[in-house]
Amino acid sequence: MSVRRLHPEQPESFAFNAENAEWAQKVIKRYPEGKQMSAVIPLLMRAQEQDGWITKPCIETIADMLGMAYIRVLEVATFYTQFQLAPVGKKAHVQVCGTTPCMLRGAEEILKICKNRIAHHAHELSSDGDFSWEEVECAGGCVNAPMVTIGKDTYEDLTVETFNAVLDGFAAGNPPKPGPQNGRQFAAAEGGETTLLDPSLYDGSVIGKYRAFDREEPKPEDAKPA
Ligand code: FES
Repeated sequence: MSVRRLHPEQPESFAFNAENAEWAQKVIKRYPEGKQMSAVIPLLMRAQEQDGWITKPCIETIADMLGMAYIRVLEVATFYTQFQLAPVGKKAHVQVCGTTPCMLRGAEEILKICKNRIAHHAHELSSDGDFSWEEVECAGGCVNAPMVTIGKDTYEDLTVETFNAVLDGFAAGNPPKPGPQNGRQFAAAEGGETTLLDPSLYDGSVIGKYRAFDREEPKPEDAKPA
């Protein structure tokens, strides 16, 4: 478990832009009087989407908006690892899954590329400030290991070549299509289907041909002797 602290360098202030400020007020109104603090996670996420990371002034602003003590919002921001507590790359912050299935399928190579192409240490900006990376726990895409998360998208079934291509795409401002990078359909079996291959299963021709056991009326001969 990592110790999560606020970054030593902090900006002077934080403010939601006009669109996000209006959105935040709508979210706060969803909760009954006295329960406004329930909006803390959505507001922190929106702030992160706006500025890339969670700052001390951001925590204080959101605490004031929700009538919470600063420490309560700090606790939330430092507890959940989806909140970035340091500046992230302007073009991409790469979250590399380092849990067992991804490790067994090549995550170590993906991490090496991050260290060589982005920065040696996690949460460190690349020299041009465009990229940053970190290792995270299972992101739920194990079938498509190894994988990375960038923003709200995942890039899966990665190899050294395809992960480099993903980074090239972000660097050029033209990210590739998210999902499997090896042509696989979502999490379907690699190499195509192996079961339920009969085309008639999908053209409607078998509808009604099978006995609906659960709906059939019991027959007199089914009745058990008393
Ligand atoms: S182990 Fe990597 S996504 Fe689950």
